[in-house]
Amino acid sequence: MKRRTFLASAAAVAALPTPLRASSPRTLTAAPSAVRIAPPEYPETQIWAYDQTSPGTELRVPQGADLHRRLINNLDTPTSVHWHGIRLNNAMDGVPGLTQQAVMPGADFDYRFRCPDAGTFWYHSHLKSNEQIERGLYGPLIVEEPQPLDIDADHVLMIDDWRLDQTAQIIGDFQNGHDLSHGGRLGNVVTCNGAMELRLTGRQGDRLRLRLINAANARVFTLALHGMRGWIVATDGMPVSQPRLVDDTFLLAPAQRLDLIVDITDSEEATLLDVVGEDSFALASFAVSGSGSPRQSPPAPLPPNPNSTPADQADARQLVVKMQGGAMAWLDSANSPAGEKSGRDLAADGLFWALNDYAGRPEAPLAELSVGEPAIIEFVNDTMWPHAMHLHGQHFFELDATSTPGDFRDTTLVHRGETRRVLLTADNPGDWLLHCHMLGHHAAGMGTWIKVS
Ligand code: C2O
Ligand code: CU
Repeated sequence: MKRRTFLASAAAVAALPTPLRASSPRTLTAAPSAVRIAPPEYPETQIWAYDQTSPGTELRVPQGADLHRRLINNLDTPTSVHWHGIRLNNAMDGVPGLTQQAVMPGADFDYRFRCPDAGTFWYHSHLKSNEQIERGLYGPLIVEEPQPLDIDADHVLMIDDWRLDQTAQIIGDFQNGHDLSHGGRLGNVVTCNGAMELRLTGRQGDRLRLRLINAANARVFTLALHGMRGWIVATDGMPVSQPRLVDDTFLLAPAQRLDLIVDITDSEEATLLDVVGEDSFALASFAVSGSGSPRQSPPAPLPPNPNSTPADQADARQLVVKMQGGAMAWLDSANSPAGEKSGRDLAADGLFWALNDYAGRPEAPLAELSVGEPAIIEFVNDTMWPHAMHLHGQHFFELDATSTPGDFRDTTLVHRGETRRVLLTADNPGDWLLHCHMLGHHAAGMGTWIKVS
């Protein structure tokens, strides 16, 4: 394992957000801030943040409770907040132009909604998110199960990458056509909870819950555990029916979450690793001292959330989403909000991707579903790049080749050339975005929506 270095020098920084309980002042202020990401010999990094830090305030509510926050926009640009993965009331979903007006500089907006599912979620800007999330506007949202688990500690680990220059400032080339048309914007500095290597402590034999959240713009992380044994207990906030041991390496696509239960097995150090080719870097490391009380059996499944059984596929509406464009499979032409255009003219408008021959958000939804209607969406990735497809407002089951429902997720990674089918029950009325969570891809055309009524 290698220590990660920042540009030339090697060091690590711990800059942790302060968790606040839901009872603290009910505001969420988006504003410019400065944080220490790079080592001390570099300046602080100018970012945009919720309540000064990135990740922003950790929001925690009990399952079934209302979350109420007044967004105050102290940026000099419009913004909004999306509560990623919460099956909430559509008016609170935070999508300007679809579910609300943008919140102008100096203005505020009250978000209030029920959190029906226990699990690991997050919140982030949903206006120019390719820039605003990248500048730091995101934070964790944790909905607690009614009964505490048999664990020694609960850690939220929010992973991101930043593209910084030699003075540790964010490089502002968000409309870079190369990024938009290829794999998206990748950073040169990787952080966990805002630190280049997060340092934590534990005891040998401790059982921990790790809530992994990928807040990166486009990076699919390949992760591994070292000095601990781990089971996946939830995907995108939703419990898996039977906890399963993690593979030697496992993927976390943009916007996805994994809840792990891990047992510390090493007597000195346990590490969450970011595997890059032959190398691996510590994202978070636990200095181990003393010993706890090792559990004799694997973790029990988390209690299931409501409305989380797969629908009957026989009656499901069949929808197809063809994913098109990008480098090496350039669009010949496509429809767009400005009309039918050649691929070259679309590129001049910053559009490189299309879904079903449409680049950008179409006037008409992909589908109108009635409440309670089951649907299968078939994602056909005709591009040379992977895409992390996210549906707002409801989760879906990933189907395997034999149509067996697997994980219940809100974001599915569709590899290049792959076809992936997902099964959902349209049980949440409203207008719901369906888009690639590689944020540059969404900005460059990869988004549509469904209507449920
Ligand atoms: Cu994480 Cu459209 O959102
Ligand atoms: Cu994409």
